[in-house]
Amino acid sequence: MSLFNQVEEIKQKILHESEKISDEASLKSFQERFLSKKSELNGLMSHIKELAGEEKAKFGQSVNNARNAVQEAFQKKADEINQKILERKLEKEKIDISLPSMNYEVGGINPFYLVQDEIMDIFVSMGYEVKEGPDVESDEYNFQRMNIPESHPAREMQDSFYIDPRTLLRTHTSPEQAHAMDEKGGKPLMMICPGKCFRRDDDDVTHSHQFGQVEGLVVGPGISLANLKATLELFVRKMFGEKREVRFRGSYFPFTEPSVEVDISCMNCGGKGCSTCKGTGFIEILGAGMVHPNVLRMSGYDPDKVSGFAFGIGIERVAMLRYKIDDIRKFYQSDVRFIEQFKRR
Ligand code: DAH
Repeated sequence: MSLFNQVEEIKQKILHESEKISDEASLKSFQERFLSKKSELNGLMSHIKELAGEEKAKFGQSVNNARNAVQEAFQKKADEINQKILERKLEKEKIDISLPSMNYEVGGINPFYLVQDEIMDIFVSMGYEVKEGPDVESDEYNFQRMNIPESHPAREMQDSFYIDPRTLLRTHTSPEQAHAMDEKGGKPLMMICPGKCFRRDDDDVTHSHQFGQVEGLVVGPGISLANLKATLELFVRKMFGEKREVRFRGSYFPFTEPSVEVDISCMNCGGKGCSTCKGTGFIEILGAGMVHPNVLRMSGYDPDKVSGFAFGIGIERVAMLRYKIDDIRKFYQSDVRFIEQFKRR
């Protein structure tokens, strides 16, 4: 066998051996056997002197190539094994820093606020400004500025919680009409004001000592009852759907003249008459009217030059009809079984 063939044969043998390397020990013994000074391949170099001239260089080259191939195979195995060692080490030293997470319950939004937001969206889209007023109100604004002087019988219906003889928890959001007009100083305005109201009512299925209203007021030259009607019809259709019938019924409020109450066809029976609508086919949802000249005058507006309409929407009333809620107290009892039904999914 030629020396060249021997180099090839030894190389193949060693490469074959390299495939058996499987751990650190076999890697080390391979290195000692095939890559040390005394290795078989190096031993072959001693035969170089048997060759002549050009052959010498060729042979040296082939031994070198073989050595490189062996070195490469060794390195490949060494890398693989080191990687495995590292992985094993990492696996062994792994620290579990995870903890089971806390169970955060996602709550629902009280339908009171769902409906309040919806009412506001409808009016904001018509260009109304949103105002806020104080829960604690003076007798002056709550009653007098609303054309309810002392000893007026309408006070009977709105008995409140008094802080002192001149200060009370507001019984309706209507005083915000007077605040808004004060602020505007005689200029036209369009505003809504959502808020809480309080009355000394005994709580039952339809009464709560605390409830919400959204007050609305539009004042300017030439504002008419037709504007009021169109506005509230649009509101009802947006809130309750196109098919809802709207009915305006004459009524009385001290701060409006004329005054109306707005009914919508009963969503339970569709207008035929049932226990929900007490057989009438209609359910009252709000009070409204043309702002009384006295109210305009007291707020610095000249009733001969401007007119206005106002309305007060009961938030719970709308929410109860919208979501078929049968007891007003449910809004305030913080029962998760109730609230959970209003989770946004
Ligand atoms: N403030 C009235 C109430 O609480 C509701 C109301 C009626 C408001 C007519 C108005 C209105 O603005 O024009 O019963």
